[in-house]
Order: sequence, then structure tokens, then C-alpha cells
Amino acid sequence: MVTLRALTLDDAPALTRIYSGASIRHTTGKPLTIDQAHDKIRTVLARAAETPRAQWSWGILHEDDLIGLISLRRRTPAMGTISYILREDSWGNGYAAHAAHHVVAVSFTTAGLNRLEAMHHPDNPASGRVLIKAGFTHIGTSDRQTDGGTTVPYEMYALQKGIPV
Ligand SMILES: CC(C)(COP(=O)(O)OP(=O)(O)OC[C@H]1O[C@@H](n2cnc3c(N)ncnc32)[C@H](O)[C@@H]1OP(=O)(O)O)[C@@H](O)C(=O)NCCC(=O)NCCS
Repeated sequence: MVTLRALTLDDAPALTRIYSGASIRHTTGKPLTIDQAHDKIRTVLARAAETPRAQWSWGILHEDDLIGLISLRRRTPAMGTISYILREDSWGNGYAAHAAHHVVAVSFTTAGLNRLEAMHHPDNPASGRVLIKAGFTHIGTSDRQTDGGTTVPYEMYALQKGIPV
């Protein structure tokens, strides 16, 4: 249904289309310029070359169309976090859940992690559904400061290796 692959610099225009519209409403809040997209891909490629590896990022493809980005970050030796963003016109097809399943599998094998965590903005319930479908459990909320100085209770999720879903 969807496949994951490493990004290349040629993906920058597609990345600007992903980071726009409703996709950035509860995430970065700002559209990505083409220069920022190039910088983002360069950072991703540099992180992929680090040892020990602390970040994995993949483009999400539907057929040949780059529709999103999903990342895994090692936060401690055994715990990582995942995040994802899909272009608005691809939502509602199960693509994010499918991509999250792939990344959970990589986390507990190649990356050697035993716990994953993720969070989403309270006004973004679709992201919570993605996590639940990927096997995560809702574990509470965590207050985050916004740029405007207000506090937002983000919904927190976790998934432990070896606990059947
Ligand atoms: C969150 C996001 C990745 C979902 O992508 P997607 O490919 O549409 O996700 P899926 O199709 O796999 O699953 C979406 C689920 O959310 C549900 N959903 C959609 N809108 C919803 C809403 N307003 N309230 C509750 N559930 C909602 C869908 O019904 C579906 O669940 P179901 O399969 O049980 O019916 C996408 O909306 C996105 O990129 N948002 C902006 C970036 C973002 O928020 N990233 C997450 C921060 S970590």
C-alpha cells in the first residue's frame, strides 16, 4: 500500500507540498520553503551517517508519489520517539498507520529499541488514531509551552517491545 525509502535532495519540491495547508496546522505552523526543504533533507542525510545512529527518516511513498515523511529518533539508548506528516490530499487512506507499522518494526529490530513514545496536539485526534492502530497505548498528557506563551496539554502514547497488541 505504501513503501518507505530514504530521501534524496530531489525530493525537496515534494517536501514543500507535504509541509503546507492543514498538515502544518498542529505541527510546525509554517510552510516549508524550497531552501528549508533542501536544508531539512541535508540534515536527515547527515543524521543517517552518524554512529551511533540517533535518527532514521523515510519518505512515505504511495506508488511513485512522495506523500509524507516519518521519523524515528533515539532519545535514550533504548527509547525512541516517532513522528510523521502526510500531505493533506493523501489523508484518510490508512497510509500513516501503515507507515507507522513499518517504523515500529524497525525500531524493535534494526534500531534495537525496547520502548517508543509519541505525542500529538489535542486538536489532532487523527494522529492519536494512527498511534492506536500502530499498537500504542494512550498514557496521559504532557504540558508544552507554545511560542505564544500558553500551555497546551499534548496527548502522550507509548509502546513497549514484546507487549502484544
Ligand atoms: C495525522 C496524519 C499523519 C494522519 O494521516 P492519515 O494517512 O490520514 O492516517 P490514517 O488514514 O492511517 O488514519 C487516520 C485515522 O484518524 C481518524 N480520524 C481522522 N480525522 C479524525 C478526527 N477529526 N477525529 C478522530 N479521528 C479522526 C480516521 O478515521 C482514521 O482512523 P480509522 O482508520 O480508525 O478510521 C495526517 O493527518 C497528518 O499528516 N497530519 C498533520 C501532521 C501531524 O499531525 N502529524 C502528527 C504529529 S506526530
